[in-house]
Amino acid sequence: MTKHLTVVDHPLVQHKLTLMREKDTSTAGFRRLLREISLLLAYEVTRGLEMTTRWIETPLCEMEAPALDGKKLALISILRAGNGLLDGILELIPAARVGFIGLYRDPETLKPVQYYCKVPSELEDRMVIVVDPMLATGNSSVAAIDLLKEKGAKNIRFLCLLAAPEGIERMAEAHPDVPIVTAAVDHFLNEHGYIVPGLGDAGDRMFGTK
Ligand code: URA
Repeated sequence: MTKHLTVVDHPLVQHKLTLMREKDTSTAGFRRLLREISLLLAYEVTRGLEMTTRWIETPLCEMEAPALDGKKLALISILRAGNGLLDGILELIPAARVGFIGLYRDPETLKPVQYYCKVPSELEDRMVIVVDPMLATGNSSVAAIDLLKEKGAKNIRFLCLLAAPEGIERMAEAHPDVPIVTAAVDHFLNEHGYIVPGLGDAGDRMFGTK
């Protein structure tokens, strides 16, 4: 397992995740919980953002106060379920730049094929956070990160809600420099590629499809 794995075991995260796992949670409830949990996960994944100081005046005196530095960070959503994590994070970091990567699995080769890619410029100067709620096989995450590295990204982090050991292993092999932040590591992937116990298909549950 990668050294760069952080499981956010905060009680609020764990409680909300339990509610999301329950099969009878409504689409509206699932969406609301995902937005709330993404705020809490965003707090963890953005640790280590570049800082500077600037002089400000409080009502009492002047002080040199900490402030964010560097280029605005880039959030990259892996379509379509990644979009569910975006809203909460953007509430916390409204100036973030946002990109989208769409991948489908070729039925013959079973390899991920890119069908859409629109990402912010100057990735080499930004913290880049790739978001996808479910780290299952890791194939699409690895392909998305390959692409971002080709475009110059150097400081990449991966944020998910649930991870399977198989996906963590795959990411550690392909991108050992990319820290992973997740709310939980589940038991295994079943024969259909679902994380067990998991929460089902994250995209279907957040968009009310199927
Ligand atoms: N994608 C999902 O939405 N759910 C899983 O369990 C695995 C991949």
